[in-house]
Amino acid sequence: MENRLDAIPAELLLALLDNPYESLILVDADGIVRFMSSSTDGSYAVPLSEAVGKHIAEVNPETRLPKIMQTGKAEIGRSMLVKDKERIIARIPLVADGRVVGAAGKLMFSSPRKLKRLIHRIESLEKQLDFYRQEVRQIYGIRFSFDNIIGQSAKMEAAKTLARKAAENDSPVIILGESGTGKEMFAHAIHQASRRSPNNFIRINCSAIPAELVESELFGYDPGAFTGASRQGRVGKFELAHGGTIFLDEIGEMPLSMQVKLMRVLQDKEIEHIGGGKPRRIDFRIISATNRELEGMIRKGSFRLDLFYRLNVMVIHLPCLRDIPEDIPLIFESILKKLGRDRRIPIESVSPSVIDVLMNYRWPGNIRELRNVAERAMIVCINNRIEIQDLPAGLVSEVKAGNPRQAKPILLKNAMEAAERRLIEDALNYCQQNKVKAADMLGIHRTGLYQKLKKYGMI
Ligand SMILES: Nc1ncnc2c1ncn2[C@@H]1O[C@H](COP(=O)(O)OP(=O)(O)OP(=O)(O)O)[C@@H](O)[C@H]1O
Ligand SMILES: [Mg+2]
Repeated sequence: MENRLDAIPAELLLALLDNPYESLILVDADGIVRFMSSSTDGSYAVPLSEAVGKHIAEVNPETRLPKIMQTGKAEIGRSMLVKDKERIIARIPLVADGRVVGAAGKLMFSSPRKLKRLIHRIESLEKQLDFYRQEVRQIYGIRFSFDNIIGQSAKMEAAKTLARKAAENDSPVIILGESGTGKEMFAHAIHQASRRSPNNFIRINCSAIPAELVESELFGYDPGAFTGASRQGRVGKFELAHGGTIFLDEIGEMPLSMQVKLMRVLQDKEIEHIGGGKPRRIDFRIISATNRELEGMIRKGSFRLDLFYRLNVMVIHLPCLRDIPEDIPLIFESILKKLGRDRRIPIESVSPSVIDVLMNYRWPGNIRELRNVAERAMIVCINNRIEIQDLPAGLVSEVKAGNPRQAKPILLKNAMEAAERRLIEDALNYCQQNKVKAADMLGIHRTGLYQKLKKYGMI
């Protein structure tokens, strides 16, 4: 101890004790004042020059320093009247070799107002934190439940039953299905129906995290862990998911280096911030999803077999839309109803020929594509009734081409109109919706184009 003090120049010690930002009184074991900082001058009845050597009770009759020397217990943040002014102070017993050798009185806030201001600041920061916590919950929170998943076909019901089972336990779930079949929706619904729903649902898009950011995104880091790290540090996605669900979307796109790291976390259920720190235990449930064929990737060496076994515990296959044509009318109409409510466009009817076309289309984009078709039809339709011309012309012509029996009843006029619509659409897209240029490209007059746009409900 002495050695450490010896290293401090006396003037430095004095400057520390006597700095203008803090008021300090030191008394010895007998209660005699040994030091009072300059900033205390004028606060007590006895001036600074006369205080040293006097008993503290003479300087400040309200003092409790002798009392805390008896109890040995510090009193922090107490209020005290000094010359009729309320101050927030700390009283600290000073101990050496296990013996109380004196006490220090320190001014913490020169008025309760300043303390109140600090408390107010802390309260407002806590409120902000609460707000951001809620925002995080909203962003990462539940957007879909089983009620939002439409479809009554046997295949869809089987998938929903299995997913409901999965919600009852904590086993890893993998959701397989083509693009747009509702994998993310199912993952949300499982989380929502599980005991984990009060906590976060954290989606990690495995194809979108650059390799060099994987670790900081997933595991987080302490403040200043590496050059370029943010000063506040960063909470990793696994920590955000504590008590909740991690959704590893597009797991088939996960680079091998990330697969190794993920495997470790799944085994240990522990994460470590970059730059060390104590490992933290995290309680999470894993749901993964992919539209890739993982077995093939394993054979080629681009997906780890051990990781596959970890993830592939409960497997939910989502049907592609062309395999459940019986669900198409229901899904189409439900989407129209919901979008119609949101946008205040009430759709009164859908022509049977529309349903017929929809049920015969291949739907490479599955329910997402059906949703887009419904949204577009809702916008372009006339008199709140959806007709064949409200469907994308490409879709209609593909169905007709693939199904000549269906093509028969189409009038030449309708076929020509559909083709015309498609050409106009293409020209507008090509010209980035510039109608003058599009009319030019089509070799028609601008007013002619406007007439056709109006006829087809395209404006
Ligand atoms: N069964 C369903 N009922 C109603 N809407 C659905 C259904 N399945 C999917 N959708 C809608 O289709 C869109 C795509 O769904 P989602 O994002 O879950 O698909 P995905 O399988 O994750 O696709 P991708 O592989 O392209 O990421 C969403 O807008 C969703 O609302
Ligand atoms: Mg998805």
